[in-house]
Amino acid sequence: MESKQVIVGVTGGIAAYKAAELVRLLVKSEIRTRVAMTRHATRFVTPLTFETLCGNPVIHDMWEGEGTAMAHIDWGQEADLIIIAPATANFVAKMAHGIGDDFLSTMLLAATARVMVCPSMNTHMYENRAVQANLALLRDRGIVVMDPGKGQLACRTEGPGRLPEPVEILDRAAALLSPQDLSGLTILVTAGPTVEPIDPVRFVSNRSSGKMGYALADAARKRGAAVILVSGPTNLTPPTGVEHIGVKSAEDMRTAVLDRRKNCHIIIKAAAVADYRPRQSRDQKIKKGPEGVSLELVKNPDILAELGASRHDYPGVLVGFAAETEDLLENATEKVRAKNLDMIVANDVTRTDAGFDSDTNKVKIITKDGAVEDVPLMPKGKVADLVLDRSKAILDKNFE
Ligand code: CTP
Repeated sequence: MESKQVIVGVTGGIAAYKAAELVRLLVKSEIRTRVAMTRHATRFVTPLTFETLCGNPVIHDMWEGEGTAMAHIDWGQEADLIIIAPATANFVAKMAHGIGDDFLSTMLLAATARVMVCPSMNTHMYENRAVQANLALLRDRGIVVMDPGKGQLACRTEGPGRLPEPVEILDRAAALLSPQDLSGLTILVTAGPTVEPIDPVRFVSNRSSGKMGYALADAARKRGAAVILVSGPTNLTPPTGVEHIGVKSAEDMRTAVLDRRKNCHIIIKAAAVADYRPRQSRDQKIKKGPEGVSLELVKNPDILAELGASRHDYPGVLVGFAAETEDLLENATEKVRAKNLDMIVANDVTRTDAGFDSDTNKVKIITKDGAVEDVPLMPKGKVADLVLDRSKAILDKNFE
């Protein structure tokens, strides 16, 4: 996202305070962010707040302050996306009817960037037919209108009109800024640990957080793919727009994956599947007894190996992950061969900045022809994009 530029247009509603958090999140995502405000917006939040957050001067007056005489033309041409958040009923009306009577509305008239509008207002105002007709006009012109959230509003009424959470706006913006190079593809991702019950209160599992698999699902969805996320128990919220299938045990995961593999173009198995499960899962809690007890474990099915062994049923790209603590390259390369994969993403889970529960990852990508790509340490979101790039390249080659 580093090369992308976004303008946040803030208009005069109480939710203007939430725009500050949106700007912070955009800057954190390394998106170059500028802010323009209407005069009324400055009554709710000061330009200094936004200037401090985005590190750029804020334009709130057409006639004074920063910028060249041509800022009202240049800004909308230089940006990739303009987000109006919050958008008041009055501002929506001005956009719908081509009125340019201040910097923000004039800049929008000359803009070539994509535009996204986040209406936020009292429920009755939002449901007013004039407002709805104006929003319909904007949609007709290709402007993205984000539905407001429902709930208790600042005016103490209940209903639609709440500005979506800044993180939801960021999520939608990121999708609009992403290339749609995976549209038309169905991608299945597995994530998280599996949990193998011993009795109703105890289980065998592992330290997988699911972060890498969720990052893959999120990135694939933003790039236009239809995404099926088969996930063991995690503390994460599934990304919006993905089909989430929650599973517990390796057996459940196997059933879900085999059920859904048929129409998938790419399957990425980022889950840390428990290799063994207790031979017996007791219905009642096991009572404390002798000094020592032993737990008999039996082998779980290897889902990835099963997919690899039935490539005739599944012609798509098959990608595994390898969690290693030693001899990473040798072990991971052997898994590519043994499980009949197109590619494996290997990570050293003994590192604190990579592997389980970390927000960053350091991986080696090994393809079935033996090529090894040593990827530097980076956030899991970026690793996800890279894995998707490589998987898509294999898919394109297979269908050349
Ligand atoms: N995998 C699977 N089913 C299993 C075990 C693993 O589908 N029962 C998949 C994982 O999702 C991952 C890949 O196989 O994509 C490699 O998993 P990993 O735990 O690194 O290797 P294992 O095959 O389990 O071998 P080992 O534990 O001996 O390293």
